[in-house]
Parts: sequence; structure tokens; C-alpha cells
Amino acid sequence: MKQKLAGIEQAAAAAAKNVSSEADLQQERSRFLGRKGELTAIMKGMGQLTAEERPVVGALANEVKVRLEALFSDRQEELRLEGLERQLLTEQLDVTLPGRRFRKGYKHPIVKITEEVTEIFSALGFGVAEGPEVEKDFYNFEALNIPKDHPARDMQDTFYISDEIVLRTHTSPVQIRTMLEQAPPVRVIAPGTVYRRDSDLTHSPMFHQIEGFLVDHKVTFGDLKGILTTFIDECFGKGTEVRFRPSFFPFTEPSAEVDIACVICGGSGCRVCKQSGWLEILGSGMIDPEVFKAVGYDPDVYSGFAFGMGLERIAMLKYGVNDLRLFFENDLRFLRQF
Ligand code: FA5
Ligand code: MG
Repeated sequence: MKQKLAGIEQAAAAAAKNVSSEADLQQERSRFLGRKGELTAIMKGMGQLTAEERPVVGALANEVKVRLEALFSDRQEELRLEGLERQLLTEQLDVTLPGRRFRKGYKHPIVKITEEVTEIFSALGFGVAEGPEVEKDFYNFEALNIPKDHPARDMQDTFYISDEIVLRTHTSPVQIRTMLEQAPPVRVIAPGTVYRRDSDLTHSPMFHQIEGFLVDHKVTFGDLKGILTTFIDECFGKGTEVRFRPSFFPFTEPSAEVDIACVICGGSGCRVCKQSGWLEILGSGMIDPEVFKAVGYDPDVYSGFAFGMGLERIAMLKYGVNDLRLFFENDLRFLRQF
């Protein structure tokens, strides 16, 4: 029995020395010390020994067990360190290599223009309002004096979500929402995204507008002209050529569209201005009494003006960009220039 124990101890020591991984060592360990291991078998078979043999062999077996356990755990630590060493050698890190560069982000030109225009109007005393992009037909059309089946609906090719819900075609519904909430005087601008079934050099199905309106006692068309001229001077520089052109909107009377000289061709005519030398940047007019009635303002007491401008057009003119679609392609070579 003693010999057997000595044999087991030797075999275990040899096995532990031979393995080269912690997993293999674990397997060897259970071959000797596990529940069905060789040493365990001997200890379990102790009952068959004589009464004199039992304590002697028992003590011996216990000593072997303690030694083997120490042996295996020493060997395990050894293997762990060897593994670590190997890993350190193979996964060497060159700390002198340059780090990964993070690209700096820039504001999108449309965001920049929105901020610039907002700042100019803030300085003129306008507050900022917002409204939803998915809008009720009532705010986008009805309350703006564009009843269902009115031919003026064709002026803006609309994305309908349902009979009563649309993607807003302009920022003018924010006029209605604001006036329903606030008593005059009001002086507000409303920047936002709008949608139309439109697509060419100067039209995109998704684009941005800034609405502006002012309601008070005795507001005149002269006030409208004054505010817009001040804005254009501030935005494009003093002396920029501007023209007010009579127009029609169901929610303003009289109405005017404002063009500025095409900065791409200097007014001589090109693809962008469709050879006219002018680019339309906004629609405007005196708020129609029908709109005041829809929001509960008394048209005999109050008057006001409103305007809505296309921010992409402003950005094209300011930055000399000849195709509005460039703003939406997210080509970094384009965007980095701003
Ligand atoms: C309107 O949207 C009116 N709500 C503006 C208004 C407000 C008039 C308040 C009176 C009082 P219009 O459809 O013309 O008007 O559009 C206004 C501006 O948005 C245009 O001058 C143009 O600069 C821009 N715009 C129109 N359609 C597009 C488009 N598809 N892509 C880019 N810009 C556009
Ligand atoms: Mg227009």
C-alpha cells in the first residue's frame, strides 16, 4: 500500500510537470485528486484494511494528499506566470505610435444660417416659437384661409398622412398656434423643417423655413419693408440689391415676394436663377383679416405682417452654393468648407 501511494505521488508529480497549460493541469489534478481520482480511490478503500494498517495508511495517504495539493497549486501558479509572460511578449504595445485622431465636427451650414438669422431677428426684438412637423390640416391650411378644395392648395404640393394630418408645407402654421395662445402684441419668429413634393436645383422635398410675424396696433406695410430691408442688410451686407414683387398668399393681403440679386452670376442670368438674375428668398404680406378671425384677434383693432423665408436659399446666396441638394448629401468634402 505504501508503495502504491509512493507510485501515485510520483506519477502525479511527473504529470504536473509535463503539462503546459492550466486546463491540462486541471485535468491531471482531477485524475489524482478528483472524486474519482486514484488517491481518492485508495482513501475510499480504506475499509478493507486491517485495524492495525488503517491508521498508518490513513495518515500516509493524508500526507500524500496534502503534498499533491501543494504541488498542483504551485504548478498552477507557475503556469499562470508563464502564460502572462507569453502574452506580454506577443502583445507588445508600441507606446511611441501616434494615437488615433478624432475628427472635429462642424455645424451644418443650415444650422449656422438658422442661428445667424435667429440672432438678427432677436436683436430686433423677436422671440422664438416652434411647432410640430406633422401638423393638422387645420393649422397648415384651414386657419390660414386655405379651405379644402381651394385652388391655393395646389401652390404647395403636400405630403398627406391622412385626410386631416399633413407634413407641414411651411412654417406658417406656427403663426396660428402662437396667436391662439397669445394675445397681441406678438413679435415672433419660428424656424423649422418643412416638406413638399418638390425636387430640382432650387427645390428639395425637405427644406427649412423661418417664419416671422408681428401683430400690434397700426402695423403697416412700411414696417414690413423696414424690418425685411434691415434683415437683408444685416444678413447679406448693406447695399444688397433687393426687390419686392407683388404676389399672392391666401393668408396675407397685400402680399409680396422678395428677391435678391443672384450672387452666383451677379444678376446677369444663370442656371440657378433660371436666367432671371434674381432669386426668391421669401414670401410676405399683411396678415389677412380672415386669419385674425380664425384665431380670435379683432381685425378692426389689430394689424400685422408676416413673412416666411427659405433657409437653403439664404445659405446658397450667402455661401455661393449653386445646387441646393448639396446641403442634404452629407458629403464631408462639401460640409468641411463651412
Ligand atoms: C410660403 O411657404 C409662405 N408660407 C410664406 C409666407 C409666410 C408668405 C408668411 C406670407 C406670409 P413659398 O411657398 O413661396 O411661401 O415659400 C417660401 C420660401 O421657401 C420661398 O421663397 C423659397 O425660398 C423657399 N422654398 C419654397 N419651396 C422650396 C423648396 N422645395 N426647397 C427649398 N426652398 C423652398
Ligand atoms: Mg414662392
